[in-house]
Amino acid sequence: MYIREANSADFKDIMAIEKEAFYSEDVADLVSQLLADKSAEPVVSLLAFKDNEAVGHILFTRAMIDARRLSPSIYILAPLAVKPDHQRQGIGGMLITEGLKKLKEMKVEMVFVLGHEDYYPRYGFIPDAGSLGFIAPFPIPNKNANAWMVQALTSKGLSKVRGMIVCADPLNKPEHWRE
Ligand SMILES: CC(C)(COP(=O)(O)OP(=O)(O)OC[C@H]1O[C@@H](n2cnc3c(N)ncnc32)[C@H](O)[C@@H]1OP(=O)(O)O)[C@@H](O)C(=O)NCCC(=O)NCCS
Repeated sequence: MYIREANSADFKDIMAIEKEAFYSEDVADLVSQLLADKSAEPVVSLLAFKDNEAVGHILFTRAMIDARRLSPSIYILAPLAVKPDHQRQGIGGMLITEGLKKLKEMKVEMVFVLGHEDYYPRYGFIPDAGSLGFIAPFPIPNKNANAWMVQALTSKGLSKVRGMIVCADPLNKPEHWRE
């Protein structure tokens, strides 16, 4: 098993992973748009290989805090996908860990995710980022508030700048914010 940064030659492999993991074209379409979108750059796009087959992919795209002060450097994790035959072998976890390492190298201050509240806290994410003042791009119903999570990546901790998170344009649609 190894993980490396994805490049343009990996596009077909990435699409295959998203389609298999989500059993639809929708997330693959979103990833395709995010990989081509200026407002998402520079992305962190990582592929996991097993026996030379690409089996997992993670994407982090750039975001901003919509405050009247300078926004800290923040990213959103979306999506994470592992082919069904290769799930529950730790590949998703390794992709998250490697992604967080890259973001730290880039001096990113915080990373957000909308996802399973039993899963992402294992990797340092704090549930209910909304209650900390980091408002998701679209309203998250109260019953799912814990699914919107944040993690500080520097010794400074969570940024003092709070407000609405503005994500890359292709992600900025209500259908991507239903957990
Ligand atoms: C979620 C996903 C990326 C996890 O990848 P993985 O390689 O299986 O993850 P790991 O092996 O590192 O961790 C396994 C843990 O993930 C959790 N998990 C995996 N699939 C899950 C699911 N569908 N729902 C809830 N938790 C899930 C379990 O808690 C599991 O832990 P356990 O085996 O102790 O019960 C993978 O299951 C997947 O691609 N799912 C479909 C796409 C998806 O939902 N992506 C998440 C979008 S935020």
